[in-house]
Amino acid sequence: MAKKRILSGMRPTGKLHIGHYVGALENWVNLQDDYQSYHLIADYHVLTTDLNTDDIYQNTIEMLIDWLAAGLNPEKSPMFRQSKIKEHAELNLIFGMLISVNRLERNPTLKDQVRDLHIENIIYGHLGYPVLQAADILIYKGNYVPVGEDQVPHIEISREIARRFNNQYGEVFPEPEPLLTNFARLSGLDGNAKMSKSLGNTILLSDDPETVKAKMKKAVTDPNKVRKGDPGNPDICLVFSYHKKFNPEEVPEIDEGCRSGELGCVDCKMRCSDKISAFLSPIIEKRKYFEEHIPEVLDILHLGEMRAKEIASATMAEVREKMKIG
Ligand code: TRP
Repeated sequence: MAKKRILSGMRPTGKLHIGHYVGALENWVNLQDDYQSYHLIADYHVLTTDLNTDDIYQNTIEMLIDWLAAGLNPEKSPMFRQSKIKEHAELNLIFGMLISVNRLERNPTLKDQVRDLHIENIIYGHLGYPVLQAADILIYKGNYVPVGEDQVPHIEISREIARRFNNQYGEVFPEPEPLLTNFARLSGLDGNAKMSKSLGNTILLSDDPETVKAKMKKAVTDPNKVRKGDPGNPDICLVFSYHKKFNPEEVPEIDEGCRSGELGCVDCKMRCSDKISAFLSPIIEKRKYFEEHIPEVLDILHLGEMRAKEIASATMAEVREKMKIG
């Protein structure tokens, strides 16, 4: 049987952080053997919250390098820019007719963004963010979409649009399903539930050991554990949540040491930093290779764009035929 297809993407906001890895990228790498995987750099989507395009290209390259360094294999997983495949824009326009403004206004991810970024007047393109995302997914007939949990409402909208199209014009699109990691979210160093560049609470995949240590020193812990000897509660400690991900073997011992007070926060943080850096070390190594071989990175992108274009144009031909237009 043919492998099912995965489509996922990220907005190019520059170098990625460990939250991107834990929430999505790790999953992409693990799934690429079992699915046909397509990975999109959502550069048009950047415009929904930032009209300044000066950094988009550089951010695209940085993100692509992180994808490659984390283990995405370009032969198995074509990687491409959304803006290079014009069919996305065409399908976006058509999909814009298949969903109400009301439905889009109810999107919780949009509401969160409006609150976090203090947006007063939502632009039309921002309201339509999930419509473009539906085009991204459905133009490749993606069956599964491995993303972080904040994206689940968008996948639901994609399903609704697919259903609406199929009912109106005939069966073209599968109804895509999200694929979540079992560790769907990593909190930021400041304790915020979200690790994000705009909140300045990240550890980057490219951070060297000294940087990781310096950042970890500032990480929040149980506020009741002021000095070594004080008993702490790991269940509410951010650093403990990182241990769970990056240092699972030592979790029972750390749990005990924290509760008894024997393990101080400074030691605990340094142990965590070492584990995170050990995890990052091969990624940083591979990153260095790609930084020194930019033409190879660009070739990977161009090849990915050719492969994506082929599928997108075939789907659009089918769409136009079903709709008896253009
Ligand atoms: N909205 C996604 C994010 O912010 C990025 C994205 C755009 C995407 N198009 C997509 C993700 C299609 C999955 C599938 O992370």
